[in-house]
Amino acid sequence: MEKIIINGSNPLYGSVEISGAKNAAVAIIPAAVMCGFGKCVIDNIPDIEDVNKLVRILRDLGARVTRIKNTLIVDSSNIKSYIANGEDVHNMRASYYLIGALLARFKKAVVDLPGGCSIGDRPIDQHIKGLEKLGVNIKIQHGSVVAEADKLVGDSIFFDVVSVGATINVMLAACFAEGVTILENVAKEPHVVDVANFLNLMGANIKGAGTDIIKITGVKKLKGCNYSIIPDQIEASTYMMAVAACKGEVLIKNIIPKHLESVTAKLIEMGVTICEYDDSIKIKSNERLRGVNIKTSPYPGFPTDVQQIIGVLMSVSQGTSIISESIFENRFKYFDELKKMGVDVKIEGRAAIINGVSRLTGCKLKATDLRAGAAMIIAGLVAEGETEITSIEHIDRGYPDIEEKFRQLGANIYRTLNSDIKEFKNII
Ligand code: UD1
Repeated sequence: MEKIIINGSNPLYGSVEISGAKNAAVAIIPAAVMCGFGKCVIDNIPDIEDVNKLVRILRDLGARVTRIKNTLIVDSSNIKSYIANGEDVHNMRASYYLIGALLARFKKAVVDLPGGCSIGDRPIDQHIKGLEKLGVNIKIQHGSVVAEADKLVGDSIFFDVVSVGATINVMLAACFAEGVTILENVAKEPHVVDVANFLNLMGANIKGAGTDIIKITGVKKLKGCNYSIIPDQIEASTYMMAVAACKGEVLIKNIIPKHLESVTAKLIEMGVTICEYDDSIKIKSNERLRGVNIKTSPYPGFPTDVQQIIGVLMSVSQGTSIISESIFENRFKYFDELKKMGVDVKIEGRAAIINGVSRLTGCKLKATDLRAGAAMIIAGLVAEGETEITSIEHIDRGYPDIEEKFRQLGANIYRTLNSDIKEFKNII
């Protein structure tokens, strides 16, 4: 068990390179099992635990997976199994993409129910509704999704809620469905478009990803391809918020500025100076920022994944800020930890009302989920004195080299063994 130690109050200077998008990678890697001919060479793969888990899962299914730095070579031609189970499968959210991908390949899938961050009730009814419309028979048995179809047939599906997972999962299965599938009220996130681009490069026929309606014309097979994953807009937002909170001047490199528009707009409203270039953003902050209000919503709205991170910035800004969380009902738990540092917040249902304070003080914190963990790192970087963060396995699920990237910007942050465990080891 490791922990992260931060000695805060340093401004951040320099540049940081953003890695490939976690939420695109964790969908594209399962999608590679649909390729029965040739190899998929996938570049810009982030070095994170969720990717490591998927690599192990694909190998268990029978795929040959080779990793060379940030490139993954997946050869799925010899996969025979349609059963994905075990700890890795139920320890991550995105393993649900194996349902759509294995159904497309084998017309059968048995996949353990997914886990992931505990940020509210995370049903998969829309995934099931969409797959059933394609002719799939689905049951939940012994903690697994058991799905089977004689054949997949295209249909029109209107999702009741805008869901990233359901949009991608049904899109995967529909690639091999006979005829045309029309998906309406879909998610428009950049990673949805990235997955569609990857599938099209393999030979799928998907049109409209990134708009409200996706049209998929079924094909008979997919072949290998070379693909590069888009940059991670949530990782980029995390570093932007950190610079805004700690002060300083940092160039955020390898990004698509368009994907960050809602975040950039809020930072400008708070008083941050931002210069946009083709594939980078310079962010400069040298004074205390103004509080703002945000409401999370599907892309292109303000991302729920950045809500916890901007929550820290609001906590040290002037005046009152209000967060309305409209996607996940239980995404304010991190404030219970931040209160120990002096954060002044009141939770009223799905709203957090934050009165900015002029300083935070370091203390011991427990990362409650992935983005909460990132928020706690930023809080530690802002706070006076030492902050110690445990349960950092949540952070490792989604942030590559996070301490190293912050250290290069001048932060005093390092990883160490949990002292309790060290003492225990000495005793035995
Ligand atoms: C994905 C992202 C996650 C992000 C979230 C919202 C991945 C691996 N994770 O999660 O980082 O926070 O999108 O942008 O890409 N819902 C239903 N029924 C369903 C599916 C979803 O009611 O079948 C609801 C959820 O409870 C939630 C909303 O729809 O309120 C959006 O969820 P969804 O977009 O599906 O989130 P995930 O795909 O789990």
